[in-house]
Amino acid sequence: MPFLCAECGHRSVKWFGRCPTCGAWDSFSEIRSDDDEPTEASSWLGEELRTIDRVDVDEIERLATGMAEFDRLLGGGLIPGGVILFGGEPGIGKSTLLLQIAQLVAESRGNVLYVSGEESEGQVKLRASRIGVDNKRLYVLAEQSLARIVKAIDQVSPVVLIVDSIQTTVDERTAGEAGSLRQLREVSSELIRRAKSRRMATFLVGHITKEGAFAGPKSVEHLVDVAVYLEGSRGEDVRILRSVKNRFGATHEVVVFRMSAEGLVEISNPSRFFLEDMEAEPQAGTVVVPILEGTRPILIEMQALVSPTGGYGVPQRRCTGLDINRVLLMLAVMEKHLGVQTGGADVYLNLAGGLETRERGTDLGVVAAICSSLRNRPLSARTAMVGEVGLSGEIRSVRRTGERIREAEKMGMERIIVPGSARTPTGSRIDVIGADRIDRAIEAIGLA
Ligand code: TYD
Ligand code: MG
Repeated sequence: MPFLCAECGHRSVKWFGRCPTCGAWDSFSEIRSDDDEPTEASSWLGEELRTIDRVDVDEIERLATGMAEFDRLLGGGLIPGGVILFGGEPGIGKSTLLLQIAQLVAESRGNVLYVSGEESEGQVKLRASRIGVDNKRLYVLAEQSLARIVKAIDQVSPVVLIVDSIQTTVDERTAGEAGSLRQLREVSSELIRRAKSRRMATFLVGHITKEGAFAGPKSVEHLVDVAVYLEGSRGEDVRILRSVKNRFGATHEVVVFRMSAEGLVEISNPSRFFLEDMEAEPQAGTVVVPILEGTRPILIEMQALVSPTGGYGVPQRRCTGLDINRVLLMLAVMEKHLGVQTGGADVYLNLAGGLETRERGTDLGVVAAICSSLRNRPLSARTAMVGEVGLSGEIRSVRRTGERIREAEKMGMERIIVPGSARTPTGSRIDVIGADRIDRAIEAIGLA
């Protein structure tokens, strides 16, 4: 097909003034057919073709950055030639974290090239000095042209390349504006080719916005080896780095960071960080929940505040860190199966520390926290709770209960309420109580 939209890559046999797929104007141009047609295989593979049992496994060489948690997320460190898509909303801390990583690699491994298409070298330097990044093997280039970036790569021969960001980099040989899908694909595949041939670990920064420009970096996810996203809310100082794809390791791993004036600081024991004060007296409305982030259980404090709605006001339902629809559902289940009325009350829920979760294992914690606040009675002992709650008030099993129990024990919890079907790990000293319905769970914690 001879015509191609430069914005979205839509192909067509005829020319359009406006792309029927993405709506861009004047974006169609003719492509040479030899660019596109698959060439016929000219030679028989013969001997080269192997059955799977005869394929050798390459030893994967790892380049540890020295940022322990980050290395763990990757499965042991960077891979020479491996390409990492590094996504996140603007202002979340991508450039800061990558400068820190650049510094560590430059200190221990060799040259690093940091290309910024958004900031001048001076601006990069300013940020770098604020967070103590000053290594002599760290090269900085403010550049948007792919051709010149490639020249710089040849000149510096970096061990690690950082391109901040793919949305600002343009390949002059390709039509379309910087950031258009076609440019993103061209720029990414060219950089990926360079990364592989030079065995240079490469970070491609991609901005995502909540309003759907998400399509940008997402559209090159299939090209890269690893995709990680940095998340967090702007007002809070917690950042979560999450892997959504990893050709060299497990996915859905997370690293928790705390922001500081010197950049992001890894938190090696997130449970301790999120449990505000282990020694304090238990408060009404507070419950500890072991949530799962990737494969890792993290204990976190959940707080509820239930108070009568004054006058003829509309009852408020607010929550931070949790799915509001899930919370509304829990209120309905509680009314039906526990006889708990919250129709005349405002309900607020909060996950401590700025963490967000969509995990259903928090359901039981929500129910308990609301009951506790409503009755104005704290839970009777240091208790953690986990379980998904179904519409008929049953408590359903969740993944990796055993690990959550062990984490609760490790963090000094005396007791944990889990789904009735869950098995207690052998040798655990924490009091494990299985409950298959919410009324039984509420009774067990002395709030019935
Ligand atoms: P920045 O790294 O520029 O975000 P991104 O590259 O994702 O757009 O960080 C945004 C701002 O936050 C920047 O002004 C620096 C500041 N910041 C800190 O002061 N400490 C930190 O730990 C981080 C991550 C950022
Ligand atoms: Mg940036």
